[in-house]
Amino acid sequence: MATTTKTVTELPAWKALSAHFQTIDRLHLRELFAQDPKRGERLTVEAAGLYLDYSKNRITDETLALLLELAEQSGLRARIDAMFRGEKINVSEKRAVLHVALRAPKGQSIPLDGEDVVPEVHSVLDRMADFSNRVRGGAWRGHTGKPIRNIVNIGIGGSDLGPVMAYEALKHYSDRAMTFRFVSNVDGTDFVEATRDLDPAETLFIISSKTFTTLETMTNAGSARSWSLAGLAGDEEAIAKHFVAVSTNAKEVTKFGIDTANMFGFWDWVGGRYSMDSAIGLSTMLAIGPDNFRAMLGGFHEIDEHFRTAPFERNLPVIMGLLAIWSNNFFGAQTVAVLPYEQYLKRFPAYLQQLTMESNGKHVTIEGHPLSYDTGPIYWGEPGTNGQHSFYQLIHQGTRLIPCDFIAFHKTLNRLGQQHDMLLANVFAQGEALAFGKTPHEVSAEGSADWLVPHRVFEGNRPSNTILMEQLTPAALGKLVALYEHNVFTQGAIWQVDSFDQWGVELGKVLAQRIIPELINEAEPKFVHDSSTNALIRRHRRFRDK
Ligand code: F6P
Repeated sequence: MATTTKTVTELPAWKALSAHFQTIDRLHLRELFAQDPKRGERLTVEAAGLYLDYSKNRITDETLALLLELAEQSGLRARIDAMFRGEKINVSEKRAVLHVALRAPKGQSIPLDGEDVVPEVHSVLDRMADFSNRVRGGAWRGHTGKPIRNIVNIGIGGSDLGPVMAYEALKHYSDRAMTFRFVSNVDGTDFVEATRDLDPAETLFIISSKTFTTLETMTNAGSARSWSLAGLAGDEEAIAKHFVAVSTNAKEVTKFGIDTANMFGFWDWVGGRYSMDSAIGLSTMLAIGPDNFRAMLGGFHEIDEHFRTAPFERNLPVIMGLLAIWSNNFFGAQTVAVLPYEQYLKRFPAYLQQLTMESNGKHVTIEGHPLSYDTGPIYWGEPGTNGQHSFYQLIHQGTRLIPCDFIAFHKTLNRLGQQHDMLLANVFAQGEALAFGKTPHEVSAEGSADWLVPHRVFEGNRPSNTILMEQLTPAALGKLVALYEHNVFTQGAIWQVDSFDQWGVELGKVLAQRIIPELINEAEPKFVHDSSTNALIRRHRRFRDK
């Protein structure tokens, strides 16, 4: 792996971008479009069925050239190659980062420590397919002989967000005779509400946890075990028919009481937030069937190949990553709004939050040096058009700059009169309004009283990307997720951070473990806490259900 000893801000391209920013900051998108009537066609890139219009960003050809130069000087190419070669680029955990191997076709070879990992990937996929076919076809039956109709995935973080998002996104392709539920929160309400109308004799639990030690998942798995046994006459043998595990930790799976014959494995080179296409996607495969799941993997792979081979100036994830750097580090934008104009993608922003923020929410470089620049913008969003009637006001007229990613599909999966064209009209209108706004002159010309003009003015000059695809299919979803995975990679490589560790979640976990017995056993708080935490503990103990 190429290590960069210079920090990114010392690179000539970064310095040139800083100087260049002074000229761009004053330019309005209205001028940029007026100067170049073909801008909206020129500043676009299309690959693998994804069309990206990035013309509504506050950039000129010079900005783009400098950003591409920054990518070169940052060693992005070497880092991409290092990832695909299986080098241990997750430095702080000494791990390779090979989610791209999860969607490598049979026959491709990706060696890790001298061994090709692709055959193992396909052997797990084949086992998943066989299991899914048996459950979906009714050959796999519950303990009492009833077919399985309900699947409950228990997991959290990457072992939940990807499966939930993919299930919602691909519901159109799912077996509607089956019910899918997802339990993640240690709040008992999550489990109780997810299972209250289910028959244990028809319910299969997938315990999804890379480590198989995560507090929330193990606690919910324990509740699921009790719930199943209570509904199945307490017969321990029932567990084998109603529980399967997805994990890298066979020892803990066995300890929990699940036969490893019913375990689907993956590997430490798959990060939790990059795992929806591994065995963690078992619930997805059960919902949409193995063929659709493989089509999704095909979509991922197409973008992997595009990211690995396309020149940076035509490389979708690279361009998106560079534009994110431009907005974040030069314009000082703190967030990115992801706005899918597709109801099935309603959980996509939540999924992206872990992917982007757990990856790039970092405060030191790979070499451990504190950063002098911002990393990891806050990703958030809601499906359109709902957001328009909620927070878009702030995006249009607030004081903060919020770059937006609009995502839409030309063809709907649910044609209802002209509603799809109405939806698309809204997405195009939003990008237009954000970029061009409405001047005081235009507002006055419409007959507004002078005092009202400032309230009705839209400054415009607010950046957005528009991503268009033909239709939401399993392959399209794979492409979209891979686009963001590699966009995040690009950002992390330029910021010189380890995008694949997540030490920041550890402290809270450790402290919670310390506090749990102080609440449950009512032992006197050990006063190792601060006075605020001690008082909160005492207050809860006074009022909690006994
Ligand atoms: O919250 C931290 C984290 O480690 C995530 O990265 C991960 O996706 C999640 O917990 C769940 O972990 P596991 O799959 O091991 O239960």
